[in-house]
Amino acid sequence: MNARAAELRGKGLDVFAFGVGEPDFEPPHFVLDAAKAAIDKGVSKYTAVTGIPALKQAICKRTSEVRGWSPKPSQVTVSVGAKHALFNLAIALYEPGDEVVIPAPYWVSYPEQVKMMGATPVHVETTEASGFKMSPDAFAKALSPKTKAVILCTPSNPTGSAYSEDELRAIVEVWKTKSESYLVVDEIYADLVYDGFKHVSAARLASDVAERVIVIDGVSKTYAMTGWRIGWSIANEKVAKALDTVQGQSTTNPTAVAQHAAIAALTGPQEEVEKMRRTFEKRRAAMVEGLRSIPGVHCRMPEGAFYAFADMRALYGIPYKGKPIASDEDVAFFLLDEAHVAAVPGGAFGAPGYVRFSYATSEERIAGGIAAIKKAIAAARP
Ligand SMILES: Cc1ncc(COP(=O)(O)O)c(C=O)c1O
Repeated sequence: MNARAAELRGKGLDVFAFGVGEPDFEPPHFVLDAAKAAIDKGVSKYTAVTGIPALKQAICKRTSEVRGWSPKPSQVTVSVGAKHALFNLAIALYEPGDEVVIPAPYWVSYPEQVKMMGATPVHVETTEASGFKMSPDAFAKALSPKTKAVILCTPSNPTGSAYSEDELRAIVEVWKTKSESYLVVDEIYADLVYDGFKHVSAARLASDVAERVIVIDGVSKTYAMTGWRIGWSIANEKVAKALDTVQGQSTTNPTAVAQHAAIAALTGPQEEVEKMRRTFEKRRAAMVEGLRSIPGVHCRMPEGAFYAFADMRALYGIPYKGKPIASDEDVAFFLLDEAHVAAVPGGAFGAPGYVRFSYATSEERIAGGIAAIKKAIAAARP
């Protein structure tokens, strides 16, 4: 998809970028200033493997302020992005024979990292009707004595769904009582929630079994800092020590200057984050309502992140390249070729029939892309 989108752009065509997984904003200016100041101060050497103490302290302080529980710096491992934090965790925890429970739709890296370690992903299917959230019963059935970990992403990439406090409490209760496994909670989108939705950290709800909860977070999405590559895990000290060993033999430390930028992001004023969140909230409405205005297309209003996840099966049967559209991948290629809209087919996330539309782009572009989709459908329908 990316290659085809690049090819079209290379031909001078204006492609609507609804496939992107990163905010289209700049990081707050004081973050960039802090990075420049760090360079000028000579921040050019190796740091402690799991991150500089000031950053770990900033992570703990912010976690306690916005997530409502208080980890210790010794539990924090700062890595080269949240994806790297998850990969370190996979190396440290998963072995052949282990099962890792992952609700579907899922972020693509979760099952791939599990498989790379020779362990087995076990998916719990969810539906649009259930808000793409697991029922406690379905979750319980997926747990087994082989379960090493459960990976929960809330708010979710790709669906934007987020568990309410009651929903999460019910899931945590099942996990706590039926399994000895770790609960890995990816909270990378937790600051981007809408309509007054309150994100609740599973770590707060499971404080009595805190040693089995591992939180993944980072600056990529909240501060529009994807390229700086700073993410982290918060785990019990034994797991944190294992992560220190894993990271010590791979990247050593995350980039020193990027760590200083992350300190500024976490400790500086948070107004920019709120401004970005409010902008995303408006775009979410534009994207979801736009998709819903396409006859037959369903799209749930997501609680968070910056993705709309739409059931596009209404487009099946439309002739495209001499054949009727028959899959989400066909839909995505049709949208790209005929409407110049780049979006990600749901099959990649374990949800065939769906397509993920990112609204990390302006309302004008969203309106333009939706209009182009409608025009392409009208022209293609026999
Ligand atoms: C759910 C989820 N977790 C983790 C990541 C990785 O974030 P980072 O850029 O910090 O590696 C992403 C990025 O798309 C994501 O969507």
